[in-house]
Amino acid sequence: MSDSINTSGRQPIGVFDSGVGGLTVLRHLIHTTTQEEFVYLGDTARVPYGNKSPETIRHYTRQCVNFLLGFDVKAIVIACNTASALALDLARELSPVPVIGMIDPAAKTAVDKTKHGNIGIIGTRATIGSHAYERAINEYAKGVGKSIKVFAKACPLFVPLAEEDFGEHPSSALIAQEYLHEFIEKDIDTLVLGCTHYPLLKNLICSTLPGISLIDCGESATMELSTILNTGNQISNDMHPSVRLFTTDTVHSFSAIAQRCIGLPLPEPIRISQETLEEQGLSGL
Ligand code: DGL
Repeated sequence: MSDSINTSGRQPIGVFDSGVGGLTVLRHLIHTTTQEEFVYLGDTARVPYGNKSPETIRHYTRQCVNFLLGFDVKAIVIACNTASALALDLARELSPVPVIGMIDPAAKTAVDKTKHGNIGIIGTRATIGSHAYERAINEYAKGVGKSIKVFAKACPLFVPLAEEDFGEHPSSALIAQEYLHEFIEKDIDTLVLGCTHYPLLKNLICSTLPGISLIDCGESATMELSTILNTGNQISNDMHPSVRLFTTDTVHSFSAIAQRCIGLPLPEPIRISQETLEEQGLSGL
């Protein structure tokens, strides 16, 4: 963490993802912390992050973090597993305020929840290729004396299906079957949705793998944020939650997904240019 600063409850919380996926995290944040102000950035011009190199993902993360720091936030939630897996260390170095990633909280929940010790992980190519979940699960399991087997699988087509709001389309069932059938042979009882876009496909995943507990990383990360805000006495006392949405490009389904996901009337996203984001990114170099 760069030099830490004094923050107060009244400051907003920054949240970012490559696109609509982070809205599934924002839903938990809003419904759990009820009185906070959020600034959400969806880097829709550059989604997906999950097929890009670690260097590119770190470069994008740097820019998103610096953009959010420009709002004088009191904490940042990386509502993207890909950026959390590849660039959490960098984000924490850049930020004088706490940065919450997706991986560790979800890994702990999965270890606590599994009965047979067989855990499945699905995520983007970059997240699965980083082995960040295996490391986090094995480390936590060792600490609590549990024996765990982890089975990981990249499901890159799930991100465009979620971005296109295609969860109920018949073609999605075929893709889900192709990606997920191997988990039945592995006898997993717990599956980590290791990409924040995937809760938008929850019905599809549940019907492909009936009876398996799904871990939503946004829920686990929200608990971690609440603990940090409580411990630092930084809870907002405002009466209503509020959200400012920013995207780096237009997305035809963004508002519809945002509305459905959060269940509250939300403002239209404000589009910022990539140049603006570039400038913010450079200001932190
Ligand atoms: N929603 C993000 C994640 O959790 C990124 C998906 C992508 O852009 O590929 O990994």
